[in-house]
Amino acid sequence: MVKAKKLTKADLAQINTMVYEYSQQKWPLIPLVQRIQNEFGYIPPQSISVIAKLLGLFPSQVQGVISFYAQLYTKPRGRRVVRVCRGTACHVRGGKTILKLVKQQLGIEEGQTTPDLEYTLETVACIGVCALAPNMVVGDQIHGHLNPKRVEQVLRRDRG
Ligand code: FES
Repeated sequence: MVKAKKLTKADLAQINTMVYEYSQQKWPLIPLVQRIQNEFGYIPPQSISVIAKLLGLFPSQVQGVISFYAQLYTKPRGRRVVRVCRGTACHVRGGKTILKLVKQQLGIEEGQTTPDLEYTLETVACIGVCALAPNMVVGDQIHGHLNPKRVEQVLRRDRG
């Protein structure tokens, strides 16, 4: 699993500048953390105290807002997110085996990111294409009717 890298002085200076710019707005916190995530790929934990200080908040308030929104991340994410479906239709057609194989292929558990930052593995309640079960999504591409051979093909092809 990837650990958040330590921020450089240049990174902190960039965050300070962004926080200052947004502190002039009326409701700056959400757009600010979204901007930081867009720049860095995640919200570096070290940035939370900087944000809190300049916006006159407690770090726990900033952390609380970040934790509330599922689309905000304080850990680096892979360039592509692999989402394996855990829904009922997929489960009864072998979804558990598909998840196990994806974990083996990527060498990570759910919620983790590969060390090369290529993939983050997640599970979802339903992708919305139950008729194709079992399913997974790699990046924005849905892969249905999965079996062990197809899982290997999909991931091998995706790696190029
Ligand atoms: S249950 Fe897997 S796509 Fe709906």
